[in-house]
Amino acid sequence: MAEILPSLLAADFSNLREEIRNVYEAKILHFDIMDGNYVPNISFGPGIIKALRPYTEQIFDIHLMIVNPERYIEEFVLAGSDVITFHAEAVTHLDRVITQVKETGARAGVALNPHTPLSVLDYVLEKLDQVLIMTVNPGFGGQEFIPQMVEKIKLLRKTIDERNLETKIQIDGGVGLDNLEELAGLGIDLFVAGSAIFSADNPADVLKKMNKILEKTK
Ligand code: DX5
Ligand code: ZN
Repeated sequence: MAEILPSLLAADFSNLREEIRNVYEAKILHFDIMDGNYVPNISFGPGIIKALRPYTEQIFDIHLMIVNPERYIEEFVLAGSDVITFHAEAVTHLDRVITQVKETGARAGVALNPHTPLSVLDYVLEKLDQVLIMTVNPGFGGQEFIPQMVEKIKLLRKTIDERNLETKIQIDGGVGLDNLEELAGLGIDLFVAGSAIFSADNPADVLKKMNKILEKTK
């Protein structure tokens, strides 16, 4: 079944342990790492991952929106990350950085900005545990879903199926109760949701509702 990944970027930074407890039903947590360089926002670094690691068994899915991600992969894995996703647009040697991630034992993902064509991944797709299709321009939570990304998602689903790969499809940005049902029909495996969950009065309740929608459409 597909999974909902709460994005901690939208959580109360002064209360992250509590916020994680609120979404204990999520198997995977999404951490947005922003350097104020690759994206016009700064979020948090490996220290937060290290601090939160002892408090949950949940999978830590790290989204590196930083320049030179190859400099920080080992540090994020050492801090307790399970999945490392970096942006194709942020590296020169994509194949080499994927290998660098996998050599740490972490799962490897590559993120594509809305303008980046899937063809960038043609020769590395089979090495990837997941592909993150950005459905907003990276840098901030609470943005609108970019509808043109539906075609891109459909093409990726078709490509993975035709090549008989295990690579998971992850989407990130502008996912909420208003569009999840429609999106759930596209064969997406991992849905990141930040503000839809953490801006709600009852995040646990929204997560429950989202999981019910996925249950219904599996
Ligand atoms: C945006 C981040 C997303 C964001 C999702 O750059 O990669 O993970 O936090 O937030 P919402 O769900 O509010 O769009
Ligand atoms: Zn993200």
